[in-house]
Amino acid sequence: MASTVLSRLALYTVLFAWIILGLSIQFLTQDTWSSISIVQYFLSMEESGVRFRALILLAPFALTVISYLINERAKLFQETLLVEEELRSLFKELVHAFANALDAKSPWTMGHSERVSSFALAIAKEMQFNEQDMEMLKIGSLLHDIGKLGTYDDILEKTDPLTEKEWELIRMHPTKGADILKPIGQLQKVIPIIKYHHERFDGKGYPEGLQGNDIPLLARILCLADSFDAMTADRPYKRAMGREQAFVHVKEKTGTRFDPDVVKAFLRIYDTSNS
Ligand SMILES: [Fe+2]
Repeated sequence: MASTVLSRLALYTVLFAWIILGLSIQFLTQDTWSSISIVQYFLSMEESGVRFRALILLAPFALTVISYLINERAKLFQETLLVEEELRSLFKELVHAFANALDAKSPWTMGHSERVSSFALAIAKEMQFNEQDMEMLKIGSLLHDIGKLGTYDDILEKTDPLTEKEWELIRMHPTKGADILKPIGQLQKVIPIIKYHHERFDGKGYPEGLQGNDIPLLARILCLADSFDAMTADRPYKRAMGREQAFVHVKEKTGTRFDPDVVKAFLRIYDTSNS
């Protein structure tokens, strides 16, 4: 705001000075004062003097028009920024609403996506990821199980052990999730996070059995965050572990299920939050 006022003040000052200069030269050219060096220099040739006087008289108008156009462009730019900001916040709200709708499919998963998102972001922050990656991870965490939309609800509610056929269907949900989001151009960096969130560091995960650093790092972070929340929440087929027991389990699975660097970051947060 202050910068706008200052820039307008500067513009009006320049315009005023320009007008005064123009009028002065007009006055001087009809007077003996035209011997003053600067005016004498510009007006020494009659033809160029005419051009110069015309230029000086037109300059304030030209500047006013240019200033008006610049202001209009600035207003349009600001309006575009506002629309962009509104669209961005609408998109974020839609992602949250979608995650809530997914979790609401079953009382067992209520709040799961939001909790996974907060664990994953805490780890990524500890590992000093940049803002853009954090944003991608947030969306990926909130929508990580979107592929379960294509999985039968009765499998997810089942208390008995799953059959091999049912496991096969469950193992398809990361790929289905990636397929659902594929048409959305802005989510191309999010798709690998979702597609590989069930890969294991030792290569025994699914859907592709990727190993170690071949698994995108953000997907390795999501894997730990997702698993930790699953361990510490009741499910139809098992009781929740206590947090202490879950931390022991995470340590035991370092290098097999989980990336050692991700586990280290996770445990640093845990140690910090308990010191
Ligand atoms: Fe999943």
